[in-house]
Order: sequence, then structure tokens, then C-alpha cells
Amino acid sequence: MRVLGIESSCDETGVALYDSERGLLSHALFSQVAMHADYGGVVPELASRDHVRKLLPLCEEVLSRAELDLSSVDAIAYTAGPGLIGALMVGGSFAHALAFALDVPVLGVHHMEGHLLAPMLEPQPPEFPFVALLVSGGHTQLVKVDGIGRYTLLGESVDDAAGEAFDKAAKMLELGYPGGPQVAALAEQGVPGRFVFPRPMTDRPGLAFSFSGLKTFTLNTVNAAKADGSWSDQTRADIALAFETAVVETLAIKCRRALQETGCRRLVVAGGVSANRHLRKVLSEQMGKVQGEVFYARPEFCTDNGAMIAYAGCQRLQAGQRDGDRIWAVPRWPMAELPPLDALCEDGLREPSN
Ligand code: KG4
Ligand code: ZN
Repeated sequence: MRVLGIESSCDETGVALYDSERGLLSHALFSQVAMHADYGGVVPELASRDHVRKLLPLCEEVLSRAELDLSSVDAIAYTAGPGLIGALMVGGSFAHALAFALDVPVLGVHHMEGHLLAPMLEPQPPEFPFVALLVSGGHTQLVKVDGIGRYTLLGESVDDAAGEAFDKAAKMLELGYPGGPQVAALAEQGVPGRFVFPRPMTDRPGLAFSFSGLKTFTLNTVNAAKADGSWSDQTRADIALAFETAVVETLAIKCRRALQETGCRRLVVAGGVSANRHLRKVLSEQMGKVQGEVFYARPEFCTDNGAMIAYAGCQRLQAGQRDGDRIWAVPRWPMAELPPLDALCEDGLREPSN
């Protein structure tokens, strides 16, 4: 089955063609980062309008790169949520219109399931069961994964997501949007140990996260440096490193706990923050010490992309799941509501609550 995947939940338009026999055939991405940069964050209405402009050219690009045309598309998968409602509506309407014209099945996919399964596109994919750390701009979750759609939430952030914390720290450090990659780049110039930031919620049992206190700690450190005259490029870099180290170690501590609690030896790390080199290094070392394995997507598939939607959609479409006539756009959508692949109702239809 050849599936055209469409991602438009936030500020990236992603399109990809995935073939269940041959793997990923082609993919294309347009990032709206430059457009939103002037505003210091994503402007939802501008995002929707730009998805309208980019979807068709990106589809044409993906098909031409794969040397195929629309007649070779067997099914369409699009991001149905969570995300910005207008941006989701653009991708969903496009997908349903195209599926109607081609008379092929169409399915709305959960964005975080897309992230979670993205490491399956790599040459050595993880086997089930595993523990997944999902770290994106909107989510920080630890999930036990026993199969596609068999997700047990182990713990999540009670306030900011890890990516969101990176983006807010970036603003305090006078860096641009999105902040994660820029904080990481600045941290490379930092001197370890000059500042030590707290590892929130690691001194008590449990798998919940909280990053808003770290944000306040960062702001206080920045303000103190500005007040005592020590604010400089080096100070900014030292703060960036202290912040990144605190986030990375907090995530690593909770991953270790989740693996101990579940008895799993495999860890999958997915979502935009999983592109962070410091995080990948620390988790790889930690898993190496316990003879465990850790899996990531290649960096370009850690952040939003069409390939992960085409892949996740293909798994579910092959199992018979498809949308009815309704276009799904679900801004908030717990992943635990997804039906397990091996327990789909007979006609493959599903009814997510929204
Ligand atoms: O998964 P994603 O592309 O979009 C969402 O689904 O939210 O994640 C975007 C988030 C942003 O907050 C961005 O700052 C963060 O991932 N991010 C990073 C890095 N690359 C992206 N954070 C830390 N280090 C990075 N290298
Ligand atoms: Zn994402």
C-alpha cells in the first residue's frame, strides 16, 4: 500500500510518500519558521494560510521525486490532531478532497503517534514493547508501548512541555524562535558548573515532570546577571548550558525510573527535543551502562514531518482503519484514546471523542 502523508498541525508543512513494501519513497518539508520569527512564536492564522499555499506544490514535489503520479496513491493519511485547529483543518480538508477525487481511503492520524513511530523509519527499528519518551513543543510524556495503539501513560508534565521550556529560555537569552536548537548551539560555548540549575521533581518518587520552575530559575539568573553587570555572551552561554543540562538530566532520571518500573530494556525517544545532541549523548550512555538499547529518528524526522504521518497512517490503513466522510480536526486528543491496531472494530472505523 502506498500512502501519501500530510502534516500541517503547527508551523511545518510536511508531505511524504510511504510504501508498505519499499519503505519511504520521498518526502518534502516547508518550515514557516522565518515567517513567524518576527512575532517570536507561531501566529495560528498565518500558519493556516501558509499551509494552504504550500500543500499542493509539496505534493507535486514528493510525487515527482518518487517519479510517480497521483494514480499511484492508494490511500491518504493526514494529521488530525493535536495541534492548531485552523492548521489541522487545512490538512484535513486537503486530504479528504484529494481522497474523494482519487476514490481512495483517508485516515486522520494522531500527531504524537506519528512522532512515536518515526524511529520505525530507521534501518534498525525498535521492537515492542518499549518505553517512549515523547518530548516536543506541546508534550512531555513517558509512555509504555506494547504495540501500535497500546499506549499506557506513565507520566507527563504538569505544566510546560520540555520544548516549550527551551523556547521560553531562548527568549530570556535573547535568542530567536524556535528556541531549542539555538539554546543547544549557544550551550556548546558554555562553561560547565558556573551555574547549577535544579532538576525539578526528581527528589520525589513518580514519573511526572514540571518545567515551569526551571523557567523562573532561568529568569532569576538572567535578571541577577543583568543587575550585577555580569551579563555577557559568555554568561548567556553558561546559562544556556546550565539550563540544557538540567532538562537533559531530569529527562534521563525519569527515563531510568520508567524503565525500572516497567522492566523494559528498550527506550524510544521522539519529538522535536529528541534532536538535542546533549540529550541523545546522555541517554545513549545511560542505556549502554544497563545493556539497554535506545532508538531515535534521524534528526530531520525528530521535528514535525510528513514521513511519520505517512508511516503511522499506513500501519492503520493497512489494518482497515479509515475515516468516514467527516474531516477530523482534534486540537486536544489523549493518545490513550487511540484504538489498538489488533482490536479494531470490523469495518475499521473509529470515533475519537473531541
Ligand atoms: O515535535 P516538534 O517539531 O513540534 C511539536 O509537535 O511540538 O517539536 C518542536 C519543539 C520546539 O519547542 C523546539 O524548540 C524543540 O522541539 N527542539 C529542540 C531541538 N530541536 C527542536 N529542543 C532542544 N534541542 C534541540 N536540538
Ligand atoms: Zn510535533
